[in-house]
Amino acid sequence: MTRTIQAIRGMNDILPDQIYLWEFFEQTVRDWMTAYGYRNIRMPIVEQTDLFVRSIGAVTDIVEKEMYSFLDSLNGDSLALRPEGTASCVRAVLEHNLLYAGPQRLYYSGPMFRHERPQKGRYRQFHQVGVEALGYSGPDIDAELIVMCAELWKKLGISDVRLEIGTLGSAESRALHRTRLIGYLERHLGRLDDDARRRLHSNPLRILDSKNSEMREIIDGAPRLLDDLDEDSLAHFETLQRLLRDQGVDFEINPRLVRGLDYYNRTVFEWITGKLGAQGAICAGGRYDGLVEQIGGKPASAAPACGFAMGVERVLALMVECGSEILRPVPDVYVIHQGEAANGAAWKTVRYLRDSGLRAILHCGAGGFKAQMKKADVSGARFAVIIGDDEVQAGEISIKPLREAAGQVRVGMAEAVDLLKRT
Ligand code: HAM
Repeated sequence: MTRTIQAIRGMNDILPDQIYLWEFFEQTVRDWMTAYGYRNIRMPIVEQTDLFVRSIGAVTDIVEKEMYSFLDSLNGDSLALRPEGTASCVRAVLEHNLLYAGPQRLYYSGPMFRHERPQKGRYRQFHQVGVEALGYSGPDIDAELIVMCAELWKKLGISDVRLEIGTLGSAESRALHRTRLIGYLERHLGRLDDDARRRLHSNPLRILDSKNSEMREIIDGAPRLLDDLDEDSLAHFETLQRLLRDQGVDFEINPRLVRGLDYYNRTVFEWITGKLGAQGAICAGGRYDGLVEQIGGKPASAAPACGFAMGVERVLALMVECGSEILRPVPDVYVIHQGEAANGAAWKTVRYLRDSGLRAILHCGAGGFKAQMKKADVSGARFAVIIGDDEVQAGEISIKPLREAAGQVRVGMAEAVDLLKRT
């Protein structure tokens, strides 16, 4: 027996019954981005593995455990399915010298890939909408990005989402903090798990992100980066808070907010909901002032930047949880017909109706009037248009409402369009 082939675990089909929600979301995002002056950029899904190793960081879960990297069997190149979009976006901006024209406000959307253990809200192929503002150094752009998110949640009918912000300071303040943190963790070496010991010298900040409840106490008592901040970073963070307050955006400061990617400095933030269980982070981002130079290599290409990405599956699930009402688009008419002459008239009719701005489905395949009428009903159309010999002879069509008790009428085409649009 032939084995049936199924989709890869953690990689989902998005079916027609779900797509109207996706399309509503995508249209809302496009309008929202345009209103703020952000332009769309589209990068390839596959990049050189090294791009992600260098930007996200070699000692991160994403690169160490979750990245789909492989050797191209045709030429031996080391490639990876993108686990996120920031690195690709920065690469594209540098490759095409976009920053020569000045700062760039950009966004992208599409599938990302991480080999995580699949569960509700966590997939191996998932979708992000990512927004990157490159060439801006001030806290005003950080605030703009956050205010934009707050506005989008409203547009999508999402509530029950809270904002956590934090700051990672400058490279120097992190270095100072790192030394203090390593000193503290070394004093508690016996209580660290294997993962934490392994990361003690390579990435001690990530230890604070551990989910191991036995290390909770150690983590809670660890020195706080906020206390080691340099003056400029502190001022940046304080202005950001003021701007958010001015714009009426509520937030909590989380001094322990650690992101799973190494490129961040200063501002980091996460939007979290309690409605989606363990996978409550719907959107996250921050500032990455060093990344452009790191990827571009030359100090001349340095440009401060800030951005975020949201997990589309999680945002949509939250919309459903919040009961956002999205009207499912239905066809206006389903055209049923019988006989050769009626078939010709039916083709003309659907063309005329569509040209008039109506959504019209032509019945294809066999079936008597009764069977076709059933199909019309299942299609969800508001009206059936019926064309038989009588209609062909009279040069008219019959219209039968499918969602209300009103009776059938026979009218000419122009009148039909009026009637269908009016109702
Ligand atoms: P991230 O926190 O790794 O950041 O991902 C952003 C969002 O993508 C998460 O908050 C979550 O909603 C969603 N997400 C991540 N992994 C999965 C998964 N396996 N299944 C479903 N959804 C997931 C970034 O990717 C950065 N590039 C964000 C950024 C842009 N920072 C600056 N600019």
